[in-house]
Amino acid sequence: MEVTNVMEYQEIARQKLPKMVYDYYASGAEDQWTLQENRNAFSRILFRPRILIDVSKIDMTTTVLGFKISMPIMIAPSAMQKMAHPEGEYATARAASAAGTIMTLSSWATSSVEEVASTGPGIRFFQLYVYKNRNVVAQLVRRAENAGFKAIALTVDTPRLGRREADIKNRFTLPSNLTLKNFEGLDLGKMDKSDDSGLASYVAGQIDRTLSWKDVKWLQTITSLPILVKGVITAEDTRLAIQAGIAGIIVSNHGARQLDYVPATIMALEEVVKAAQGRVPVFLDGGVRRGTDVFKALALGASGIFIGRPVVFALAAEGEAGVRKVLQMMRDEFELTMALNGCRSLKEITGQHVMTEWDLPHILPRL
Ligand code: FNR
Repeated sequence: MEVTNVMEYQEIARQKLPKMVYDYYASGAEDQWTLQENRNAFSRILFRPRILIDVSKIDMTTTVLGFKISMPIMIAPSAMQKMAHPEGEYATARAASAAGTIMTLSSWATSSVEEVASTGPGIRFFQLYVYKNRNVVAQLVRRAENAGFKAIALTVDTPRLGRREADIKNRFTLPSNLTLKNFEGLDLGKMDKSDDSGLASYVAGQIDRTLSWKDVKWLQTITSLPILVKGVITAEDTRLAIQAGIAGIIVSNHGARQLDYVPATIMALEEVVKAAQGRVPVFLDGGVRRGTDVFKALALGASGIFIGRPVVFALAAEGEAGVRKVLQMMRDEFELTMALNGCRSLKEITGQHVMTEWDLPHILPRL
């Protein structure tokens, strides 16, 4: 049956993938309340469309950190994509490039920065996890730079791995035919089986839980690439990030895989946007599945969004063609949403085009 929206790839992936792999991709932390909420919160935002505007031409192009892209829809870093499809990150890189948008490569990719660069031209960001061994980090950042990656997305919400119960039950580990390719030469590419989630044990062993703002400063001394901080959800941290001189913020709760009972990212967005005061761009990921979601995020002040799970599910279902289709469907839906809201360019999308639940006096009286 024809796939007509990105969510349909999830069920196809569930049927195709080994349970351990599907569960790793799909799960959130603990009660998975935030996982549901990342989706539900979008459904509480309604439109205030404007009519009788000539929408015969719609321009979705935008600029991210100075790079022109075809639409404000980008690919979030998700680890270990060769578990989904033999071409893994190669397929994702090609699909992103064909769509004229940005792919973020995970530190824990099953293809190296050099391999992904070899797929051809494309604007790519590199997601960084900071290891205890700073030589490892410095070397990896240098390799990403040399491979032509344009920015570092520093993930700041993972001093320890969130408790993903399916991974614990499944004793999740990276299949033995695969490695965390960026770390292969450093003897850190394998993940041991443990009587827990193998990934949680790997993180406990390798990832630096002392990470703090001074390390952001350190990172700036070892790279000239712009740094995006991925995982900010409060005004306080937004201000600290800007003080630290970062280039942008990604409002993210890691796809609800870290701390459960944090708000949906779309609910945290306004607070961060307000605190950023336009000094740095603010992006969002988490639960974006429809063009309408993209529009809502932009209306509430995001400069662009990233998608995570739809990419791995589409990869599992159809490889590169699936990822291309995900990007195309998101693009088509977003374009239609712009037209039906009377917006011809991204800058015409404003807060006036949406009402949030708390704007509705008959639902929530203003006190
Ligand atoms: C992730 N995410 C993630 N984030 C990161 O900084 N480094 C990583 O290696 C990974 N790996 C990863 C694997 C899988 C399977 C998922 C689902 C997610 C989080 C990711 O970048 C992003 O924040 C969320 O996926 C966005 O939410 P949605 O679109 O999946 O709802």
